[in-house]
Amino acid sequence: MKPENLKSPFTWSERHIVIEDRVWYVPDQYDDFASFSFPGWHHPHTFDQDKPICLEYCSGNGAWIAAKAHAHPQYNWVAVERKFERVRKIWSKIKNHQLDNLLAVCGEGLRITHHYIPPNSIHAVYINFPDPWPKTRHAKHRLVQVPFIEEICRILEPDGVLTLVTDDEAYSQIMIHVMHQVPGFHSLFGPPYYVEDYPHYGTSYFEDLWRQQGKAIRYHAFRKIKSGA
Ligand SMILES: C[S@@+](CC[C@H](N)C(=O)[O-])C[C@H]1O[C@@H](n2cnc3c(N)ncnc32)[C@H](O)[C@@H]1O
Repeated sequence: MKPENLKSPFTWSERHIVIEDRVWYVPDQYDDFASFSFPGWHHPHTFDQDKPICLEYCSGNGAWIAAKAHAHPQYNWVAVERKFERVRKIWSKIKNHQLDNLLAVCGEGLRITHHYIPPNSIHAVYINFPDPWPKTRHAKHRLVQVPFIEEICRILEPDGVLTLVTDDEAYSQIMIHVMHQVPGFHSLFGPPYYVEDYPHYGTSYFEDLWRQQGKAIRYHAFRKIKSGA
């Protein structure tokens, strides 16, 4: 299957929230969230088999998560990506490699999480190379902000781990600052709260790009502390 074989199930004027053919659509500029009831992670529309859920935001073309889903069938994997053209590439990987344990979500990460993802339902969260939006006037577009991380804390199981990866030193510092503002997380790495070598983590389109340009990559990992711990 080629990416272009995936057709949008609706026109812009008819857009709505639906799960169809391994893609969950939560369109931008559509706010009738009550019109859709999330069926749960173990359901014919999501995953046939009940397994721990690993969720990646900003999946891009899905290279990293498709490889993970193939290598780790003991988990169900969810790829959240805002741009339909990139979701099509994730979808073609699902089809061509028969990845029944991978679901693509076409929509914005905070909206989907806030409106639909049940508390304590996610085993691990990954954010690989989110757009850094370096200009101050664009800072509001950054995904890693306190309200979003509070949502991640809500959806992770106790002891679940959030991994954040970036090549951007300034965004790395912002991520660390934001993580320390949200109670309920403990860094797996001591100061400076990141490592530059994370064996067997896997690679993505943007990781390959930045490494070819000689950039260092920073990996940050935070565990959700069990309540009362
Ligand atoms: C720099 S790319 C990284 C893609 C991929 N993780 C990789 O490493 O190759 C960032 C991706 O995040 C997506 N994105 C940005 N903000 C998002 C948001 N709020 N929710 C979902 N996806 C988002 C963009 O569309 C883009 O595909």
